[in-house]
Amino acid sequence: MKICMIGTGYVGLVSGVCFSDLGNDVICVDRDLKKVDNLKKGIIPIYEPGLDELVLKNYKNKSLKFSTNLKDSILKSDIIFICVGTPTKKNGNGADLSQIFNVAKEIRASITKFKIIITKSTVPVTTGDEIEKIISQKVPKKLFSVVSNPEFLREGEAIRDFTYPDRVVIGTNDKRANKILKNLYSPLISKGAKYVNTSRRAAELIKYASNAFLATKITFINELANLCEKINVNIEDISIGMGLDKRIGGRFLRAGPAYGGSCFPKDTKAIVSTADKYQTDLSVIKSVIKSNENRSTLLLKRIFDLLKGKIKNKKICFLGVTFKANTDDMRDSSSLSMIPTLSKKGAMVNYFDPTGEKEEFKNLKNVNFSKDINNAIRDMDLIVIHTEWNDFKSINFKKNVNNKKFIVFDMRNIYSITKMRELKIKYFGVGH
Ligand SMILES: NC(=O)c1ccc[n+]([C@@H]2O[C@H](COP(=O)([O-])OP(=O)(O)OC[C@H]3O[C@@H](n4cnc5c(N)ncnc54)[C@H](O)[C@@H]3O)[C@@H](O)[C@H]2O)c1
Repeated sequence: MKICMIGTGYVGLVSGVCFSDLGNDVICVDRDLKKVDNLKKGIIPIYEPGLDELVLKNYKNKSLKFSTNLKDSILKSDIIFICVGTPTKKNGNGADLSQIFNVAKEIRASITKFKIIITKSTVPVTTGDEIEKIISQKVPKKLFSVVSNPEFLREGEAIRDFTYPDRVVIGTNDKRANKILKNLYSPLISKGAKYVNTSRRAAELIKYASNAFLATKITFINELANLCEKINVNIEDISIGMGLDKRIGGRFLRAGPAYGGSCFPKDTKAIVSTADKYQTDLSVIKSVIKSNENRSTLLLKRIFDLLKGKIKNKKICFLGVTFKANTDDMRDSSSLSMIPTLSKKGAMVNYFDPTGEKEEFKNLKNVNFSKDINNAIRDMDLIVIHTEWNDFKSINFKKNVNNKKFIVFDMRNIYSITKMRELKIKYFGVGH
C-alpha cells in the first residue's frame, strides 16, 4: 500500500519504518528540513533501540522515503497518517490541536482520488469530526474517510510494540476504510494482535483512557510507597504480591519518580479538560495529576533529608536524566525539576546519561555532564539513580567512588537492599 506519514517524530518515524518493513511504500514527511536532510544521510534524529538498522535497510531498498514536500507525498499516497504533536496548550490543560488542523488544511488541498486520513496522533474525542469538517469544506465526502487509529507504542520498546501490539484500534464506521486498514494490519493480526473496530470517537477516547489508567497505576503504587516508608514495609513486596493477581497485573506497578514523558502528563490533563467541557468530573484522574506533580518535590525532600539539609557544595550525581530508560526523550522528565532546584540550592551536580548531554542543563550553574559512569560517580556525596538503564545495574560503587561516606539513593529500586547492606553501602530506595 502507498502510505504517507505526516510528522517524522517518535511515532511517525517508527510506525513509518515498520509499515515499510511490512512491504508497503512509505513516505515520511516532516516540515523540519534538517531532520529530513539528516534522515536521507542515515542520521537518525532519536534514540530508539533497533531503529537505525531498520531505517537504513528500508531506505536502501527504497520502500521508505523522506520528504519535506507534503503536497507531493499526499498525491502519491492512498493512506495518510497524521503523526504530528498534540502538546498541552500554552494557556490551559487541553491539547493544542493547531498542528493537526494545519495539516488537515494542507491535506484537503491535495485530494484528487479516494484517501484514508488517519489520526495516529493522540487527539481528544471529536477531533476526527473536526478534521472531517475542515476537509469537506473543499473536498467531496466520497473522496475521503477520516479514521482514528491511536498509537500505543512505548518509547524504548517502540519497534517491538509496533510489531507485536496487544491490539490495533480502528475507529471508523466506513466499511471500505475498515477493510483496507484490516488488510494493512493483517501481518500484525496474524501474529496475535486483536483488531478492534469501533466508532471514531470511541477510538479517540480509548487512547486517553488507557494512558490515564496507566498513569493512575503508577501514581497509586508511588503513593503506597510513601506509606511503606513509614511502616517498614518494602514496596517491592507489595508490587509482587499485587501484580501476581491477573486482574491487576504487575506492569506499571513499580514505585519510582513521577511519571513523565511526552504522553502521560499531557494526556491526563487533556482528558480532564475534555471532561470539563462536557461538565463531567474525572476526580480520580485529577487527583492523579496532583499527586504526580507533588512527587518530585517529595523526592527532593528525601534528597535534602539524606544530606541532612546541607545541600550547598554537596556533590550529587544523577545517573540517567530521561524520563525512562532506552529513550533520549526529556519531555516532562522529573530530572527537569530536580536538577535545577539542586543547582539553585548550591549543589554541584554531575550527571551521566547513555543518550548524552542535554541542552536543558547546559546553562545551569555547577551542573556538568560526565562522559562515563565511573567518572560521574567518583567524588560524589550522593548518587541518585534516576533512570533504570541496564548500564546502572551492576556498578561497583566501592571500587569507583573515592568519597568513603557516599550515599546511594536508588529511585528505581534496582539494587538489592540486602546486598548493599552486606557491602556496607549507605543505600536508600523508594518505598522501603
Ligand atoms: N512519543 C510517544 O511515545 C507516543 C506514543 C503514542 C502516541 N503519541 C502521540 O503521537 C503524536 C506525535 O508524538 P511524537 O512523540 O512522535 O511527536 P514528535 O514531536 O516527536 O514528532 C512530531 C513531528 O511532527 C512534525 N510536524 C509538525 N507539524 C508538521 C507539518 N505541518 N508537516 C510535517 N511535519 C510536521 C514535527 O516537525 C515533528 O518532527 C502525539 O499526539 C503523541 O501524543 C506519542
